[in-house]
Amino acid sequence: MKKTRIILCGACGKMGGNVLSLLASDDEATAVCGVDLYPREIGIPVYPSFADVTEEADVIIDFSSPVELKERLEYAKAHKLGIVLASTGFTQEDLALIQEYSKSIAIFKTANLSLGVNLMQALCKAAAEVLGDSFDVEIVEKHHNLKKDAPSGTALMLADTVNEAFAGQKRYVNGRDGIVGAREKSEIGIHAVRGGTIVGEHEVIFAGEDEIITISHSARSKRVFAVGAIRAAKYLPKKGAGMYEMKDLLAEENS
Ligand SMILES: NC(=O)c1ccc[n+]([C@@H]2O[C@H](COP(=O)([O-])OP(=O)(O)OC[C@H]3O[C@@H](n4cnc5c(N)ncnc54)[C@H](O)[C@@H]3O)[C@@H](O)[C@H]2O)c1
Repeated sequence: MKKTRIILCGACGKMGGNVLSLLASDDEATAVCGVDLYPREIGIPVYPSFADVTEEADVIIDFSSPVELKERLEYAKAHKLGIVLASTGFTQEDLALIQEYSKSIAIFKTANLSLGVNLMQALCKAAAEVLGDSFDVEIVEKHHNLKKDAPSGTALMLADTVNEAFAGQKRYVNGRDGIVGAREKSEIGIHAVRGGTIVGEHEVIFAGEDEIITISHSARSKRVFAVGAIRAAKYLPKKGAGMYEMKDLLAEENS
């Protein structure tokens, strides 16, 4: 069986390392090379830019940063490759660019590649639909002290999921400070905790009168995200241009 050939962007980072160690024993996929702003010896060729890549590939996994996003989208388009965009912290302009490129290439984008968070999204949606405005929704996320963006992409994704049940009418309040007054019904509070080596924890709290429902997820290692990225990389080459996410992959795997 022909292996899915992957270009790993951000190959020298923590997630890049996790993907490479899983691929070492994967019969269906392999990393042909990496791209990283700071190349170092990791057992595959690593280039500082996509302009230097000569290897043939089927798909890109991106675990780097939003910096130089256009370069990697342009490379994917020019070489007709799908791209798994696992980086977080994209700006509104970045998101518009991603939408634009999805007219030409297959783009898998999710702020969280774990199966558990995908299920959590569905549970939060159901809870918001049932509970409606009678419960206040607050999200708490916790990550390690090196994380660059806040709130996490996953916290925003969960907020968007809840907000869908309110036709997008809720506004996000990032942390609270000072005399902020009574909480308004229109708010979803999002709170970012940073410390130590916390891999990633998310809690969505539905606080009502005299009862509280908390839906939570805790990632115990970064490996869960690498597993999801490789599944997405194997799924994407068969897809036409468009935007894909975890629920599309799971629907197909379970059909
Ligand atoms: N979607 C998910 O489920 C998920 C899970 C974990 C991490 N992430 C995201 O993945 C990204 C990487 O996480 P990490 O923990 O491996 O970070 P890291 O800092 O350990 O690694 C990032 C690597 O990317 C490289 N890099 C940065 N910008 C680059 C660019 N423009 N081109 C090429 N290489 C570049 C860096 O040199 C570094 O080696 C972050 O955005 C993080 O939030 C997403």
